[in-house]
Amino acid sequence: MAAPSAPIPVALLGATGAVGQRFAQLLRDHPWFRLAEVVASPRSAGLPYGAALGRPESWWLDDEPDPLAAVGRAADLVLLDSTMHLESPLVFSALGASVAGPIESRLAANGHLVVSNARSHRMDPDVPIVVPEVNPQALELVHGQPSFARGRGAIVTNPNCTTAGLALALAPLREAFGLEAVYVFTMQALSGAGRAGLAPPRLANDLVPFIAGEEEKLLVETRKIFGDPQLAVGATCTRVPVVDGHTLVVSAKLAREVAKDDVVRAFTEFTGEPQRLGLPSAPVAPVHYHHEPDAPRPSRHRDLDRGMATHVGRLRPGMILDWNFVALTHNTRRGAAGGSILLAELAVERGLVGRG
Ligand SMILES: NC(=O)c1ccc[n+]([C@@H]2O[C@H](COP(=O)([O-])OP(=O)(O)OC[C@H]3O[C@@H](n4cnc5c(N)ncnc54)[C@H](OP(=O)(O)O)[C@@H]3O)[C@@H](O)[C@H]2O)c1
Repeated sequence: MAAPSAPIPVALLGATGAVGQRFAQLLRDHPWFRLAEVVASPRSAGLPYGAALGRPESWWLDDEPDPLAAVGRAADLVLLDSTMHLESPLVFSALGASVAGPIESRLAANGHLVVSNARSHRMDPDVPIVVPEVNPQALELVHGQPSFARGRGAIVTNPNCTTAGLALALAPLREAFGLEAVYVFTMQALSGAGRAGLAPPRLANDLVPFIAGEEEKLLVETRKIFGDPQLAVGATCTRVPVVDGHTLVVSAKLAREVAKDDVVRAFTEFTGEPQRLGLPSAPVAPVHYHHEPDAPRPSRHRDLDRGMATHVGRLRPGMILDWNFVALTHNTRRGAAGGSILLAELAVERGLVGRG
């Protein structure tokens, strides 16, 4: 596909948060998008973005020591509050769900395409949850949104960070063999809880065997992404002392018997529309299969393929469900900011940006 003739100005809501900072980092050198407006709470509005990021205990990316270097020229932008008028046709939302809903609706009504990480609108019937390699066709749902039908904007969402990795790991199996049931046990990183998870004192020498609302989100979002309201999805979600990278222990029941080589081939040959279109943020391969007995591990594998792939290993037959394996996904890259940016690239390609 041809790149846009000039970079598209984009606005970022929640720019000071853990996911917002990852967005700014990934947008710094983006070939299609230029970060033009940054938005945070009234507590931060009026400050230059760089100054807000430089406040004590305000920088959350452990893998990037210098906030100013990370966000580049965006450091000079002045933070807006969310009631202000925005010019950018494309808006990324990294707001918490307690505030995101009405802000995103207003921006869509005003003509912006809002690409959201918040759960507020995910389960609205006319709002798609899109994993670009898995269900790009779901973008068509925006035609049912009243604002879009009036020639204005729309809301599209990416899934919760855990669901993003699960959907990528299951899609090759579902596509090749059919999928009947899945059970997943998660070991989720601290950054998945945003600032609350990253601020000191951090979890150490311990785990938390409960993440509020997470198991329900895995069920309903996975069913919506696959368009299968009957899919059996069980989950136990835990928080572990890893900074970035959600590790999932998955058991899957397939619709037919298959050999291990066929399952490995399904993972390694899986590809999608972002790869066919050559979208700028597309990983080379959405799923990487690892043969080493102790892979995948967060510290070794989460950043491979720019943190945009899901890493699968430890595939073995199960006694309860057919196949067991481990899947690892970078939660703030593929599971949040990077996944949203890839989705926005697909939306640009489909002509959904800049209508209003
Ligand atoms: N962390 C992950 O791995 C992950 C993955 C997928 C999805 N998500 C979702 O992404 C969203 C952001 O998560 P996070 O972890 O980045 O949260 P976070 O670190 O708590 O950041 C929240 C952001 O929202 C801003 N904000 C708060 N109240 C506001 C208001 N009234 N108006 C405008 N801005 C306001 C904050 O600005 P101030 O700095 O001014 O307070 C901050 O920029 C959540 O919906 C979360 O569920 C997170």
